[in-house]
Amino acid sequence: MEIFGVDIGGSGIKGAPVDLDRGVLAEERYKVLTPQPSEPEAVVDAVRQVVDKFQWKGPIGITFPGVVVDGRTLTAANVDQGWIGQDARALFAAATGCKTAVVNDADAAGIAEVAFGAARGRKGVVLLLTLGTGIGSALFTDGVLVPNTELGHLELHGKDAEKHASSGARERHEWSWKHWAEHLDDYFGMVDALFSPQLIVVGGGVSRKHDKFLPLLKPLRAEIVPAELQNDAGIVGAAMAARSLAL
Ligand code: BGC
Repeated sequence: MEIFGVDIGGSGIKGAPVDLDRGVLAEERYKVLTPQPSEPEAVVDAVRQVVDKFQWKGPIGITFPGVVVDGRTLTAANVDQGWIGQDARALFAAATGCKTAVVNDADAAGIAEVAFGAARGRKGVVLLLTLGTGIGSALFTDGVLVPNTELGHLELHGKDAEKHASSGARERHEWSWKHWAEHLDDYFGMVDALFSPQLIVVGGGVSRKHDKFLPLLKPLRAEIVPAELQNDAGIVGAAMAARSLAL
């Protein structure tokens, strides 16, 4: 079965039809720049452009970088504040004419990694952390997701943890890999102690460069591995979240 997935990120909005049996993109993805400011109207229009490019009429799943409950976007840490309290599902459905599901971006990446990637077949507590502009989290027990865990906003040294340990923070402050790894030690040490996951999967764009920082980290109780789907995890997971709409 194919469903369309869209991933709304800080710099780009990417989408493609997804082959849900194999967990891969069925066609090359199409990307438009994320509008700045990332106000709802402009972002909805950008998503419509991506969907229109494929003349897609079936169900679509869309990621959002904030808390999403029942299609409503409830927080907006790294996007325009106008998203808070919006019925995002209704906005996207009206603009595209498609049945729509909206899901937190890290939750989407997590369900894709559990089904098709680094956490495939793993029992027990699994935690996916995406290191990007912010830090996203997806928490699973025996493959079942607890949505919207928002562990990037745990407090670390008196600050939001994502200000201390995200890939965005590393870029902004021009930290070396070694210096950033020390910040990651603090953060991963905290989540390891609080949740005792058996496995931590590290995602986000920077996971492509995992050999630059994962080997520098202090050992944890949890096993720590890079994500496998990398750039496509959000799109694949978004489509998976919309699967029930096709039935
Ligand atoms: C948001 C999360 C999101 C993460 C990654 C955080 O600032 O609060 O909802 O998953 O960034 O985009």
